[in-house]
Amino acid sequence: MLEIKELSKHFGGIRAVDGCSFTAELGRITALIGPNGAGKTTAFNCISRTMTPTSGQVWLDGERIDMLRPHQITARGLSRTFQISRNLSDMTVLENVICQSRVSGWRDLFRPAMSRQEIDKAMGILEFLGITRIAHEDGANLSFGQKKLMDLAALLMSDPKIILLDEPAGGVNPTLLEEIIGHIRKLNEQGLTVLIVEHNMELIMRLSHRVVVMAQGVVIADGTPEEVRGNPEVLDAYLGGALEEAA
Ligand SMILES: Nc1ncnc2c1ncn2[C@@H]1O[C@H](COP(=O)(O)OP(=O)(O)O)[C@@H](O)[C@H]1O
Ligand SMILES: [Mg+2]
Repeated sequence: MLEIKELSKHFGGIRAVDGCSFTAELGRITALIGPNGAGKTTAFNCISRTMTPTSGQVWLDGERIDMLRPHQITARGLSRTFQISRNLSDMTVLENVICQSRVSGWRDLFRPAMSRQEIDKAMGILEFLGITRIAHEDGANLSFGQKKLMDLAALLMSDPKIILLDEPAGGVNPTLLEEIIGHIRKLNEQGLTVLIVEHNMELIMRLSHRVVVMAQGVVIADGTPEEVRGNPEVLDAYLGGALEEAA
């Protein structure tokens, strides 16, 4: 469904992403892992076009999308969350979810009213995620974990076919972690394709069908969780401790 071909993003002399190729298959959960600074977030930024790649191509459903604008990509069914949760302050959760989902451009953000349709849809999603009780809470008062769930809700508003999650469970407590895993699995079972960056190795091994490993801007391994776990290069290079723990 998603194909990344020889993607590069250089910042001056820093080769944050340096000729990466990998795919995310339809209906699967693909994990993108690697140590801090490996280039995972930069790759996500290039795929969702919040950054312009230096070179390379991104294909979605057989269509090249790396020349498109972010909202055009969202309209084609690809949606992503950010590693650092953003929210528009002085707005309720419901308003945040609706505003962040308005995909036809920034001008749309200032459209005055929320339509009945938008509200019903957003409430349905909050219900799916079990957070209707915070629908009218000010976005600024949320816990870290509640913000993560709000981000997930905003992501689902655009009816995506594929979602890119950048550390959706980073820093949350074990109970919420399980809850977030449950939501991701359920969404995947409903047919949503998932590409996920996450540091929690145990979670990745449990959740993913396929794991792509990045280090220093390049893909160093790609396979099933079992294959990647047993790959000596991955173990030796940098993930040994965390992977052994997960095993
Ligand atoms: N906007 C930027 N300007 C300069 N360097 C950047 C920028 N964004 C990321 N980098 C650098 O690119 C490399 C990859 O970063 P990042 O994609 O955030 O890695 P990861 O998400 O895997 O931890 C790092 O060396 C980082 O410092
Ligand atoms: Mg990152």
